[in-house]
Amino acid sequence: MSSPDLTQRHQKLAQVMKKQGLDALALNPGPSLPYLTGLHFHMSERPVVVFFSIDQAPIIVLPGLEALKVQDLPYQIQAFPYDENPANWVKAFQDAIQAGGFEKSRIGVEPRALRVLELNFLEEAAPQAQFISGEAAVAELRMRKDADEVAAMRKAAEIAQAALQAALPKIKPGVTERQIATELIMQLLRHGSQSRIPFSPIVSGGPNSANPHASPTDRKLAPGDLLVIDWGANVKGYFSDITRTFAIGEVDPELKHIAEIVRKANAAGHSCVEPGIPAGQVDDAARTVINEAGYGEYFTHRTGHGLGLEGHEEPYIRSDNQMHLEVGMSFTIEPGIYLPGRGGVRIEDDVVVTRNGIESLTDLPRELILLEA
Ligand code: CO
Ligand code: CO
Repeated sequence: MSSPDLTQRHQKLAQVMKKQGLDALALNPGPSLPYLTGLHFHMSERPVVVFFSIDQAPIIVLPGLEALKVQDLPYQIQAFPYDENPANWVKAFQDAIQAGGFEKSRIGVEPRALRVLELNFLEEAAPQAQFISGEAAVAELRMRKDADEVAAMRKAAEIAQAALQAALPKIKPGVTERQIATELIMQLLRHGSQSRIPFSPIVSGGPNSANPHASPTDRKLAPGDLLVIDWGANVKGYFSDITRTFAIGEVDPELKHIAEIVRKANAAGHSCVEPGIPAGQVDDAARTVINEAGYGEYFTHRTGHGLGLEGHEEPYIRSDNQMHLEVGMSFTIEPGIYLPGRGGVRIEDDVVVTRNGIESLTDLPRELILLEA
């Protein structure tokens, strides 16, 4: 994987900012910062903010002890390092605001990343500026993956699938959800996931599987259980997010039946994807199958979400999302049916929109996977 052309990303960002009426974008550490700068910072008590604008090089405020990171970058950057005395930090922000001419600007920030810590410094340094959500500008860039990004996501899917297969022999009656989750995490790391896995795996058996976002418990698997496992790997910051459902021995016929409906709903989601259709149409396709089978009220979430540097990002696969799918957009297709007190089924794949339609990055069997009781 070659390193991304950051200058090209900066130019694209400038175009998008212009279109969206933003004078500047202020990013703190989070997934978008390395995407646009190639720089990695921890979110700590020392604030780091990078300002992007339409017609000048990026500007960064950072701790002096990390100033070496911004030397010899493949693009220009203007740095305002500060020392260890917090009383001096606002001065670095003021100097950066002045250098950029951002005193009265409309400055986009990331609502899910920016903390009150950074916002206070920004507002103190630029009391007349307006701080608004820049999420849409960042999403415009990040939701269209290039070939290298898709390659990382493909690898993240491969690793996750191999890790699950390696963990399978440990999944049997008497083993707890927590033990399965632990085994799966070890296998993810052994198979090459970065240590920052996208989320801690969901492992939910029996009645717990009826809760779509269950946390693993000490409940032991028992014959007749459905078992939902939702897990993912991280390759170069890019995530996979997969769900499969298992049957521990013979299960109730209705549970088998809903597994088949969910499989068909997942397939309907896949087969409707092509460039140009609204994202909402994927939700409609999957949901119609479940509605027509009479289980609509038990499909309690949207059909999917964008996937990439974050576990949830644009494009969201909700019925009301009119955003048109384009080549390079990646998202999950994950319909489910959850019968309270009895069990649930979810089948989640990661897909990318291609010129011809769709590439599924995940290919584990989608039928209810039978494990010996
Ligand atoms: Co998932
Ligand atoms: Co998901």
